[in-house]
Amino acid sequence: MRIVFLGPPGSGKGTQAQRLKDQLGFVHLSTGDMLRDARQAQTPLGIRAAEFSEAGKLVPDDVVVGIVADRLDQADCENGCLFDGFPRTLSQAEALDELLAERNMPLELVLTLRVPDKLIFERLAERGRSDDKPETIRERLRQYSALTSPLLDYYRKRGILRLIDGVGTKDEVFSRVQQAVAMVRH
Ligand code: AP5
Ligand code: MG
Repeated sequence: MRIVFLGPPGSGKGTQAQRLKDQLGFVHLSTGDMLRDARQAQTPLGIRAAEFSEAGKLVPDDVVVGIVADRLDQADCENGCLFDGFPRTLSQAEALDELLAERNMPLELVLTLRVPDKLIFERLAERGRSDDKPETIRERLRQYSALTSPLLDYYRKRGILRLIDGVGTKDEVFSRVQQAVAMVRH
């Protein structure tokens, strides 16, 4: 089973994907985590990506599509995969469709976590990652609304979009996620 987690920065994609991974044993594929790991390892890709991320901008599509394609070829992705923070542009969504079609892996569900901006600022201020400064959060939100929000229509038209209220405790949100997954799981 393949599930995409969509939602603005700080909406809880990583938190909820991690919990679902623990429950279902699927791979948790977070492009944000992969780019941060590459940066930590000082690879050329990691260093290049960090220039964008530090400014709150999206990393170029070809870079992220490349790392997702490589990850999908590892055997553990066959059972199931939770995409967290990918795709983030229409071009990435089209690339994902191709990658999955080539591997006979259907995309069953797109969960969109909805959280008001005010709460996003509160959550990220508390976390304090290097891209969690207020001005950078504002830019990340701008990038989300300009480049990522068109994906809602893209997946709505396909009938696989589910909106999840992301306000509440992590447990409350997780039970909403579980309900949405149970509806499509067979
Ligand atoms: P990425 O790492 O994906 O960051 P993001 O999507 O901007 O948002 P976060 O990961 O910060 O939030 P989240 O929704 O995962 O929430 P979380 O669970 O952590 O991307 C970072 C950068 O990498 C991008 O800006 C871009 O440069 C680049 N990048 C990555 N993917 C890319 C792509 N596909 N294309 C191009 N560029 C890409 O929760 C946030 C905080 O809130 C945590 O502290 C958590 O503990 C807390 N929290 C979560 N849920 C709750 C709750 N219910 N109640 C209280 N606190 C909560
Ligand atoms: Mg995340």
